[in-house]
Amino acid sequence: MNDLERMDRHSHLHPFTSVSESRPSGRILTRASGMTVVDEKGRSYLDSLSGLWCVNAGYGNARITDAIAKTSRELSFGHNMMGAGNEYAVRLADRLLQLTDGVMRKVFFGNSGSDANDTNLKLARLYHRCRGEPDRIKFIARHGGYHGTTLATSSLSGLNGIRRSVGLPDPHYVHVSAPEIFTHVRPGRFVTEEQYADFLAQELEATILREGPDQIAAFVAEPVMAVGGILLPPRTYFSKIKAVLDKYGILLIIDDVVCAFGRLGHWYGWQTLDVRPDLVTLAKGLTSGYVPMSASLLGERLWRTLEQSAGDIGTFGHGFTTSGHPLAASAALANIDTLEQQQLLTRATAQGALLLETLLATLEDCAVVGDIRGQGLLVGVELVADLDTLRPFIEPGAFAAKVAAACLDLDLIVRALPDKDVIAFAPPLTITAQEIADIARRFAQAVKQVAKTITQ
Ligand SMILES: Cc1ncc(COP(=O)(O)O)c(C=O)c1O
Repeated sequence: MNDLERMDRHSHLHPFTSVSESRPSGRILTRASGMTVVDEKGRSYLDSLSGLWCVNAGYGNARITDAIAKTSRELSFGHNMMGAGNEYAVRLADRLLQLTDGVMRKVFFGNSGSDANDTNLKLARLYHRCRGEPDRIKFIARHGGYHGTTLATSSLSGLNGIRRSVGLPDPHYVHVSAPEIFTHVRPGRFVTEEQYADFLAQELEATILREGPDQIAAFVAEPVMAVGGILLPPRTYFSKIKAVLDKYGILLIIDDVVCAFGRLGHWYGWQTLDVRPDLVTLAKGLTSGYVPMSASLLGERLWRTLEQSAGDIGTFGHGFTTSGHPLAASAALANIDTLEQQQLLTRATAQGALLLETLLATLEDCAVVGDIRGQGLLVGVELVADLDTLRPFIEPGAFAAKVAAACLDLDLIVRALPDKDVIAFAPPLTITAQEIADIARRFAQAVKQVAKTITQ
């Protein structure tokens, strides 16, 4: 163990890491460029998850790093509270709204996806209170969804692992099924995606009626569920869900933390759906992860209601010291310029199709690969114990975790998703055809290697 590792073990409580282990042996990163990261021992890895689904513009982009350096010299801090403001936050708010083509009306800044979701939960409750419905304090999300780890978003998330050890979920957060086309649209289940979407909309309506329609503030969903399994919705899912929400006056919050800024080939993930959200949560790709920043986008009917109730609300009692920090806002502006000028949105669509195609070809003869799916550069490979029956492995997630470890041995970083045998890929949008070929080759080698140990 070298000095850095010893210091790390002694002092650092790592997020989402076993308390006893402190940190699994391995990578302490020291450098990164493009989609390659280098650890303290000088070993290079191909990072096919863009850090944590966030480095959309690629590592070490000079436009972004220069903007951060320049802004830190010119305006190292400038808050946005109590009538104050800073130029960068103003310009970024305006830019983010322009990219919505007039659909959204206002921007609030935060520091992480978790706190932006928390902000949106509060805004949804404020909206209903302004309309004379203060009892609307419940939220519906989907099983398996990840929305953060604040006290509220730990309950909002549909993952037991982040809730049970701290006595959650709070009963005001309820969950419905996430769309899992792969396991549900097949012989003996639903014949078409349309029928499956009808079923999910009926399930939502039954949940609303059970919980009390006049107590529910909002429904929260990602356009494509990322941590929950790279789950693409059936084509008509969101329009059917939205019709149910509208029937009961419930708001739609789109958690776009992973899907925005080109990940699905558009500025915002919700632009791939045929619905307009009331609130949108942004983080990660907003600055390509260079500096922490998140944002909440407020839709027309929500903003109109708040504006009309301005006298009653008085001061909006919410915010953070670093809301709209100049360094973060300038990183986000440079990031957006990069995505635009390097045409990384259209590139994500093209390279995403190539990644899918290459994985399909490379894994064709692999008996444990059940499904390869994706949209833009958000791709998942679902591994199964038996291809004919699509039977899952007995211990969910264990096989995929072994595959991810085998990939790491081959200098490839992938993400094995929690409680599922799904491997996720979300590389920087700058990914080249050569890097796609490398990912597919190393991944296929790892899957085949692990599959061999299972059947022996
Ligand atoms: C969809 C989604 N929402 C929210 C979050 C939480 O973001 P953060 O880790 O920045 O708090 C994440 C993080 O992975 C996420 O994937």
